[in-house]
Amino acid sequence: MPAQANYFRPLLVASLLLGACSNAPQDPVFSDCPDCPVMVTIPAGRFMMGTAVADRADDPVSGRPNANEEPQHEVTIAQPFALGKYEVTVAQFAAFIQDTGYNASQGCIQLREGPGRLRLDPVLDWRNPGFKQADDEPVVCVSLDHALAYTAWLSEKTGQNYTLPSEAQWEYAAKAGSTGRYFWGDDLSRACDYANVNFSQEPPPCDDGYPDIAPVGQFQPNAFGLHDTISNVWEWTTDCGHKNYEGAPTDGSAWIDDENCQLRMIRSGGVRNILTRTTHVVRAGRPKTGTAPNLGFRVLRTLGADPTVTPAVAATVPREAAKAWPVDSEAGRLFKANCAQCHTDPNTLKGVYGTDVDTIRNLITDGGNNIMSMPAFKDRISAAEIELITGYVMQQKDWN
Ligand code: HEC
Repeated sequence: MPAQANYFRPLLVASLLLGACSNAPQDPVFSDCPDCPVMVTIPAGRFMMGTAVADRADDPVSGRPNANEEPQHEVTIAQPFALGKYEVTVAQFAAFIQDTGYNASQGCIQLREGPGRLRLDPVLDWRNPGFKQADDEPVVCVSLDHALAYTAWLSEKTGQNYTLPSEAQWEYAAKAGSTGRYFWGDDLSRACDYANVNFSQEPPPCDDGYPDIAPVGQFQPNAFGLHDTISNVWEWTTDCGHKNYEGAPTDGSAWIDDENCQLRMIRSGGVRNILTRTTHVVRAGRPKTGTAPNLGFRVLRTLGADPTVTPAVAATVPREAAKAWPVDSEAGRLFKANCAQCHTDPNTLKGVYGTDVDTIRNLITDGGNNIMSMPAFKDRISAAEIELITGYVMQQKDWN
């Protein structure tokens, strides 16, 4: 048996002792233990996921039509589930680390000014993301693997099934029956009552009082009683990276067409993103081992058996062994310097955008589909260097 499978076993004893703290499962708002996240029961239902073509906006960064929330499609959520009322906090994550000794310190991407803006800083982590955080602020600098490990621990501790939401469950819960651009409607002047938002690139219609990340729950909740479903920090979901909804499941399950997929979807937008990139429909892909100072998570708990929910044991599935990128050439060194911090091993690249040379070159030149994803390299390195890296990627992936 792989060593990781035994990892949480000693905690079973603790879970039996703590069983008595649970509130009645029927209670729509509950917590399974004193350190556990407060959960809200989300009823079953149906909703339209994504953006209709008529409402499509241009991506504010690339200027291209943003079609990654299309086609809009109906999703049926057949089973009620419980979702965190708030994003998981620093204190809640600290309880997990304290209890297990789990190592969630692997550096964190930092956003800086100028070229090479995104850098992996090896000394930063959830405890020290590069700025001071209060215990009741959402934890950041945690990868999807860290978040799933946290939910596996919660499951052991409480005897319940905790995991992360699928994109569909996330969007359904965030919209809470609303159909406007935001859960409070379309009026931006009301945004500061409901969300910790960044107006940096628009005339600010209001002031929310928090220039950066806010403690959880400072703003009014949506109709389901969930706080901060827009902004504060991005939130992990379990779905593999897909550039649009062609072929997406319609039963609320996570879209995992490859168990080992490296890119996973993140939702909600963060306080450092402009408001147009911070809505219920905005989505971006992130390497699942990646961390960022504006990326955290919110947990899901199943209520009864739910076959559409991805079990948290995904966290303990042994990962495909990381292959190293060869660096014995100029192209290899360029890749290591510019790309390897996010694309940790060649398995990360699956050809989501296409596998022809033009697609790869354009992607490196202009960046990924949206703001939280892959940066554009045209202002950072020369056209000749982009050409070298393109050739290198094509060769490593056998895409020639
Ligand atoms: C800050 C993190 C980051 C850096 C640095 C980065 N990427 Fe990416 N990359 C991403 C993300 C996130 C995606 C997902 C695409 C999206 O949704 O925009 C991606 C997607 C890709 C894809 C397409 C995915 C696939 O399945 O084929 C390729 C190819 C790629 N990157 C190559 C590169 C190369 C080459 C470099 C260096 C010049 C680089 N990336 C630098 C984050 C990064």
